[in-house]
Amino acid sequence: MAVGIKLATGAIMPQVGLGTWQSSPTQVSEAVKSAIDIGYRHIDCASIYENEHEVGTTLAIKLNDGTIRREDIFITSKLWGTYMRPELVRESCLKSLKNLQLDYLDLYLMHIPAALKPGKEILPTDEAGEIICDDVDYIDTWKVMEKLVDEGLCKSIGVSNFNEEQLCRLLSVAKHPISVNQVECHPYLAQQKLVNFCKSNDIVITAYSPLGCPGRPLKFEDTDPRLLEDPVVCDIGKSYNKTPGQVLIRYHIERGIVVIPKSANENRIGENFQVFDFKLSEDDMSKLNSLDKNYRILDFAFLRKHKHFPFECQLSQ
Ligand SMILES: NC(=O)c1ccc[n+]([C@@H]2O[C@H](COP(=O)([O-])OP(=O)(O)OC[C@H]3O[C@@H](n4cnc5c(N)ncnc54)[C@H](OP(=O)(O)O)[C@@H]3O)[C@@H](O)[C@H]2O)c1
Repeated sequence: MAVGIKLATGAIMPQVGLGTWQSSPTQVSEAVKSAIDIGYRHIDCASIYENEHEVGTTLAIKLNDGTIRREDIFITSKLWGTYMRPELVRESCLKSLKNLQLDYLDLYLMHIPAALKPGKEILPTDEAGEIICDDVDYIDTWKVMEKLVDEGLCKSIGVSNFNEEQLCRLLSVAKHPISVNQVECHPYLAQQKLVNFCKSNDIVITAYSPLGCPGRPLKFEDTDPRLLEDPVVCDIGKSYNKTPGQVLIRYHIERGIVVIPKSANENRIGENFQVFDFKLSEDDMSKLNSLDKNYRILDFAFLRKHKHFPFECQLSQ
């Protein structure tokens, strides 16, 4: 039986959702269709995944043929750094809504705390190849996101890739709840201190790259640890007759964390949802927690020189 987590706004967020990053436009149409047929009721999208239009086409088919009602499916989208200037926030939200063929988003996240030069390029760079930052405070971006809630365009709003210090700053001014902080999280990067901080402030954590992002676009060295092949994860899986992927997804369910594994493969989309018929023992959770090595796969190194780069000043690690 699938479960949901209550956000500070009162909305229920299904605990397992489908990730859509790196699903090509063609793949994502099929992936969302399969996911809905299998029982997923939560899709994680973002404008920079460049496939929201195809997600929207599939959603429209499923809504129109009565497979789902709008209120039964939870759709997240994200505002990218090049749209963080206050005057661009609403435009970006409307663009995602149009592509997704929706009247409202269940959740709209600020994708990163670091603003980038507005324009067509997702990662604007100068002649030297350095990223071009924009001098926008994420607090000013947030204030416009709050207006989107007032206007009914988003039910809940939140952030992604924020550290504890940045959350504290935002909490001190936020009029609407920061419902979610979506961050990389898995047994190699358990983020326990950030998880505790968020829980105590009624911010739900969503875990991205829960399987260790094996399809990552960046360099994958032979020496890089591979979560899905970790002997501890594999052995635990065998003892429950479950796959390593299912163990890694269930790990978040036990911790009260939302989790959004990505797959474009129908079988694996199904496999990743077969996680509600077993429970990891405390002993197995301890074994998984002992794997924590503060190993971040997506380090956003291209933002390292940005004054709002989230990871160097991370108080939580
Ligand atoms: N907020 C952010 O900054 C941010 C950053 C990264 C990701 N995200 C979100 O989080 C989602 C998930 O993270 P992710 O895509 O980085 O990585 P992930 O979910 O950890 O891994 C996805 C990869 O694992 C493969 N896979 C899926 N299920 C599997 C299974 N059961 N066994 C073996 N391999 C499996 C997929 O290949 P197949 O497709 O071939 O199955 C894909 O290559 C994203 O899609 C996106 O929605 C957000």
